[in-house]
Amino acid sequence: MQRELLFKVLVIGDLGVGKTSIIKRYVHQIFSHHYRATIGVDFALKVVQWDKDTVIRLQMWDIAGQERYGNMTRVYYREAVGALVVFDVTRASTFEAVLKWKDDLDSKVTLNHGRSVPAVLLANKSDQLGSQQPKLDHFCKENSFVGWFETSAKENTNIEEAVRCLVEHILNNEESTVMEREPGSISLSGYTSTTKDHLNCSSCVKLN
Ligand code: GTP
Ligand code: MG
Repeated sequence: MQRELLFKVLVIGDLGVGKTSIIKRYVHQIFSHHYRATIGVDFALKVVQWDKDTVIRLQMWDIAGQERYGNMTRVYYREAVGALVVFDVTRASTFEAVLKWKDDLDSKVTLNHGRSVPAVLLANKSDQLGSQQPKLDHFCKENSFVGWFETSAKENTNIEEAVRCLVEHILNNEESTVMEREPGSISLSGYTSTTKDHLNCSSCVKLN
């Protein structure tokens, strides 16, 4: 019998870093250059056949960048079990904001037993990188990110890998809040991952 898991995942980071674009790419396989700021919060659901026994419903919460200055994040973060923290490689200020988002997250949501929720760092718009960027392994270790990826929503680079890394950490987190649902007649969409894919999570493994 298949088990079905529901994970609430947050996508946070400053204005215009590409959170909505990453989600649209991941869930709907589309990208647009048109920028329309998210107001408040938006949602998307992706159903992933993780392995032959497990279906994961990923509920992605797309938090508007401007919400860092508001007081709603505590409400939005509630019961999240993981986060993607995004910055824009072309704007240093958005990298500086990463720790503010991480602190906001850690101060407002914890798993059972007080552990912080796993967070993966996304260096987005990597298609606009001229040269090799600094590696963020040390930064991630220092600031308790479970991994990092150079991503491009435009070119569809490393987005599935980043989500997979996060999901692996959520699954490994025995204390994470897992809502089990009865297997129903849901239709499966999106990609089907293989066991081999699961091992292909270099940043995660390195940092553990
Ligand atoms: P807020 O909702 O205001 O917090 O912004 P956001 O983080 O959701 O950013 P959004 O996804 O709306 O993207 C902002 C702009 O960056 C848009 O014009 C996108 O087309 C562009 N963009 C997003 N991702 C990429 C990328 O990987 N590469 C390039 N070149 N542009 C991107
Ligand atoms: Mg947005």
